[in-house]
Amino acid sequence: QIVHLADYRPTDFVLERVDLTFELDPTNTKVDARLIFHRREGVDLSAPLVLDGDELALSGLLFDQKDVPASQYDATPESLIIRDLPAEAPFEITITTHINPEANTQLMGLYRTNGIYCTQCEAEGFRRITYFPDRPDVLAPYTITIIGDKAANPVMLSNGNFLGGAGYDEGRAFAAWFDPHPKPSYLFALVAGDLAVVEDTFVTMSEREVTLKIYVEHGNESRTAYAMDALKRSMKWDEERFGREYDLDIFMIVAVSDFNMGAMENKGLNVFNDKYVLADPETATDQDYANIEAIIAHEYFHNWTGNRITCRDWFQLCLKEGLTVYRDHEFSADQRSRPVKRIAEVRHLRSDQFPEDGGPLAHPVRPTTYREINNFYTTTVYQKGSEVTGMIATLLGMDDFKAGMDLYFERHDGQAVTVEDYVKCFEDVSGRDLAQFSLWYSQAGTPLVNVSTEYDQTSATFKLSLEQMVPATPGQPDKQPMHIPLSFALILDNGAIADATSVKGGEVTGDVLHLTDRRQTFTFTGIASRPVLSLNRSFSAPVNIAFTQTPADLAHIARHDTDLFSRWQALTDLAIPNLTKAARDAREGHEVTCDPALIAALLEAAGDDTLEPAFRAQVLALPSEADIGRELGGNNDPEAIHTGRNAVLKLIADAGEDLFKRLFSDMKADSAYSPDAESAGKRALKAAALTYLAYAENSPQRAAEAFGAADNMTELSQALTLLAHRFPEASETTGALASFLTRFDANPLVIDKWFSLQATMPGEDALARVKALIDHPRYNAGNPNRVRALVGMYAFSNPTGFNRRDGEGYRFLAGQILEIDPKNPQLAARILTSMRSWRSLEPTRADQARDALMTIERSPSLSTDVRDIVERMLKG
Ligand code: ARG
Ligand code: ZN
Repeated sequence: QIVHLADYRPTDFVLERVDLTFELDPTNTKVDARLIFHRREGVDLSAPLVLDGDELALSGLLFDQKDVPASQYDATPESLIIRDLPAEAPFEITITTHINPEANTQLMGLYRTNGIYCTQCEAEGFRRITYFPDRPDVLAPYTITIIGDKAANPVMLSNGNFLGGAGYDEGRAFAAWFDPHPKPSYLFALVAGDLAVVEDTFVTMSEREVTLKIYVEHGNESRTAYAMDALKRSMKWDEERFGREYDLDIFMIVAVSDFNMGAMENKGLNVFNDKYVLADPETATDQDYANIEAIIAHEYFHNWTGNRITCRDWFQLCLKEGLTVYRDHEFSADQRSRPVKRIAEVRHLRSDQFPEDGGPLAHPVRPTTYREINNFYTTTVYQKGSEVTGMIATLLGMDDFKAGMDLYFERHDGQAVTVEDYVKCFEDVSGRDLAQFSLWYSQAGTPLVNVSTEYDQTSATFKLSLEQMVPATPGQPDKQPMHIPLSFALILDNGAIADATSVKGGEVTGDVLHLTDRRQTFTFTGIASRPVLSLNRSFSAPVNIAFTQTPADLAHIARHDTDLFSRWQALTDLAIPNLTKAARDAREGHEVTCDPALIAALLEAAGDDTLEPAFRAQVLALPSEADIGRELGGNNDPEAIHTGRNAVLKLIADAGEDLFKRLFSDMKADSAYSPDAESAGKRALKAAALTYLAYAENSPQRAAEAFGAADNMTELSQALTLLAHRFPEASETTGALASFLTRFDANPLVIDKWFSLQATMPGEDALARVKALIDHPRYNAGNPNRVRALVGMYAFSNPTGFNRRDGEGYRFLAGQILEIDPKNPQLAARILTSMRSWRSLEPTRADQARDALMTIERSPSLSTDVRDIVERMLKG
């Protein structure tokens, strides 16, 4: 069952209203769905009503409250088809199903987590609750009645506004909810159980008071403060920046401990993986706080980009996800440091999206075909989708971008729309033709831009020649040239930026070059001395740039560019050839060396007290082993990359030891822990200094002391990670790991960290360690966070430990996938994507990886999720 974008057509019947009644029972919940439909104008009288199901059994069917004769319908677990329905008049269908939340280990539809009833319906989970036109272009208002055991379910929630509740019958109670905003089924939610609540309020821009509630397990109330604050800041920001006001009397967030993804934007009732809600200094890291802020914002922003305006079909997923990621990025950039945020985004894009785009799972931001939609909640749809919206803002300028967004909200409120509808709004406000630009939605692969420059002193002319190439990807052998907006600066000898008003060869708006042809030369005149080109500033386009600049030019950019992102990029570009050469040298058993110019530039930036500490920490975090592997581009030996990189780190550490000692003491906090970005930046720089000092001193002493002295989880887990990764054999490490476990035994989110940091310990012993941890009493194969912390982190984030030459890592993963798949196919498929770059390994490892993938493929009982991923990985 492959779905094609080209096959889209509207439903034959229009859904007018939905009225659901749930009688909750852990193993036998009764669902009555009363649906009012009418036949769409012009639809053939013979057309039946076709409803989706998934593992359902029909236990009752009424038409206008009367029994339907068996001859008039067909029910299977996957569908309910009803014939002989009225020509025009609205009619009512009442469907009864019984479902078993306790047995629902897929965590799609209605399930139980720690005694709490909870739902996840995106993308196609609603059809596991009742038969329904389960697609995003079917919108209706919902009335929900929940009936449940009173003692077990003091809290019973659904979307919209609360209508009322009371005792129902012996020992039971009911609660009723009404959501007036027409919505598709994927935004439905129900939560019931015994939860604690923390309340607050927000007054909107039109002075309406909204009740805010965060529901958590009892005992966790005090850990919701940061999430609540982030929610209020998100609501305010969306009003100020996008003019978007909240539209119900109440906004609720529920934190649950078993969840397949990060969170879900159900209308008025967001459901979160608890790791993105709960935080206090003792148990959450700075990164956790930043994630909570970003995800709370993301789900809240969906209320307009996703809920009020939704997707016509699932091919349009980037319409809500890419745009909402763009919005949450902007929010975090405004709340924190914009350049530091941008550096983090680009690191993430390069480490996750670029490999996807360059491997067998590559697909366009808007795919045209899928077998399993759950496999398309990808970094391409989310992160590259966000970059595409960012490029629209760059191309149009902020004023037209804002006008385009306003038009989008005005024109399409209440509709289920397409990427074309979205782009049209920007064309209409700007008068710009975005046809070529739209190739970003349809062409997969990361474009490569080759750059060469030429300066002529006598004519004071600078020539910039660009050539773009979009690589072939599965199903797309030939590509058209794209519209690539490249922000640039010409930096003069004295560090000033040249005024580039006289440019020929293509469109230039502000500091943006528009590369639209395959080859294009821009000629700048009136440039009195040879400039240094800084290109793709702020990462204005998600492309690879091939441009060989001298270390001196890169150091010049690193020192003078007014765009901090570009300064970081220049230092990265300076580091890359050193790291790739180190990997090659290590592989051949040669001594690893490092260009003193790199060391000098890094230490200069790291020691520059006029720069914010968070930025300097980013500078000191060299490209990762995965980054280096990508730069090498194939025939990769993760062991050599690791050895080479560590040797470079050691050279930097030795050269900068004095500086690192100074930073380690300068960055000490002078007050109690606060999660704000500035304090977090200081901690990050301090941690970087500590890491280099561990290399320089080659002793666990300092890290062990830092572990003992830490009064917050950020520093505690950093010290423990450093101990475990750098000094696995030391008694300090063994002791620290044991004491950490004892101290945080009652806190699952912290125990996840304990599993993760061990899963990512490099080297040969990693697999034995991971296998032992699978048998640890705290391991829980049914909890997605725990599985991701151990198996996921091992496969995604332990290059040497996982990519063993003997292939045991791959065979272990294959075994895990086959174990997880029958219970939770989404989780299994997601973890399996860790092998998406298997073809870039050296031949021995690549063969082992292929064999492991083929073992999975041969399994007779794979889920569609895993089958889709494994087949694409072997084919592409
Ligand atoms: N819409 C959610 C978010 O990005 C993600 C839900 C993903 N669900 C899934 N079954 N793949 O906020
Ligand atoms: Zn989202």
